[in-house]
Amino acid sequence: MERFVDLIHNKKTGRELSDTDIQNMVRGYCDGSIPDYQMSAMLMAICFNGLSDRELTTLTLAMRDSGQINDLSSIPGIKVDKHSTGGVGDKTTLIIGPIAAACGIPIAKMSGRGLGFTGGTIDKLESIPGFRTDLSTEDFFQAVQRTGICLNGQTGELAPADKLIYALRDVTATVDSIPLIAASIMSKKLAAGSDKILLDVTTGNGAFIKDYQQSLELARKMVTIGTQAGKTTVAQLTSMDEPLGFAIGNNLEVMEAIHALHGDGPADLMEVCYCLASHMISLGKEISLEDARMQAEDAIHSGRAWNTFLAMVQEQGGDTSYMENPERLPQATVKYEYKAARSGYITGMDTEGFGIAAGILGAGRSKKEDSIDVSAGIVLCHKVNDHVTSGDTLARLHTSSPELAQAAAGKLDSCYQFEDHPGAAIRLIGDVVV
Ligand code: URA
Repeated sequence: MERFVDLIHNKKTGRELSDTDIQNMVRGYCDGSIPDYQMSAMLMAICFNGLSDRELTTLTLAMRDSGQINDLSSIPGIKVDKHSTGGVGDKTTLIIGPIAAACGIPIAKMSGRGLGFTGGTIDKLESIPGFRTDLSTEDFFQAVQRTGICLNGQTGELAPADKLIYALRDVTATVDSIPLIAASIMSKKLAAGSDKILLDVTTGNGAFIKDYQQSLELARKMVTIGTQAGKTTVAQLTSMDEPLGFAIGNNLEVMEAIHALHGDGPADLMEVCYCLASHMISLGKEISLEDARMQAEDAIHSGRAWNTFLAMVQEQGGDTSYMENPERLPQATVKYEYKAARSGYITGMDTEGFGIAAGILGAGRSKKEDSIDVSAGIVLCHKVNDHVTSGDTLARLHTSSPELAQAAAGKLDSCYQFEDHPGAAIRLIGDVVV
């Protein structure tokens, strides 16, 4: 067997690794026989020289196989999973999960927590009093069978190699490698066990990958991996050049999702949700996107998506009375009006900056161990291409102290771009990769 140092050398000089090399590498890193310093060098060599499609799929499958692989075959029907590469104000799972489930697609989804400037579905759900996201595998399956949907936390047993490698990437400046991101995401999606996968690849200044062409490359790589692993995979690019909807922060986003489930959400959020839900329904029912869209819209307008959401909340221990009366959810003690310092059109928003500001208010965490304030966040009053007059309220900041509000307001001062004329419209829905 070749020494690992020789494999690092091969990758450094642009040669391909064999399937066995890659499988041994993942196994060796998980069992501790490959030390951090060698794995770091390999990750850096991958950053510079990339991976072929074969290497990438082999790496992803080795990471998938490092832990538990869900067997969802006892749940009847075509299970469709959805993953978003994350963003600011992205509460789509709370809306499209119930829409797709109301249309008969079983949704057995494992979600994650927020870290850094992006929020996480699990944190949003846990802001509903009583809602449990730590169901055992058996309870998870039963919940899907009873209500058609369960949104549960991701267990450490799913692709543990990814957890170890991600932690190393985080401290070796190797997170932003497109093949490593693709392998990381797809190893977990493949282990989660659904039959088909929809990827929402966000792009723009509030996304993990900001450049459109790079986002497209990530989408293509993930679709290639999914297809080579035998799962129909579709990726939809969506814009993160402004926060999605008006609400950023955990229970503020739940409240906005409730409006959306009543058909009354902000236009951009509704459009992204209909688009993504249509893909899920089209994949699950093997029907055209147009027919799927009609079903998605009907699920909202008939109230079936809302009833499915309520059933999910009840099944997972949440108190549905808060959903019927969301104004009863915990409210921030400080609400600060952030005002426009000049008149003009808003021609740009630094979306990542809004995520950081929401984190300052208490809505996010910078380390995994940090706790969050479920009621903290930002409610936007205006978005890109709105005209405002000096002194108009641009956003309401929800937090627990005036000092935090001031600190977040300071951050927001550099997050708006104003001009005397409107700018180009944001392209909300981008390319589809199949
Ligand atoms: N999300 C993941 O799960 N993995 C990455 O590498 C980046 C984003």
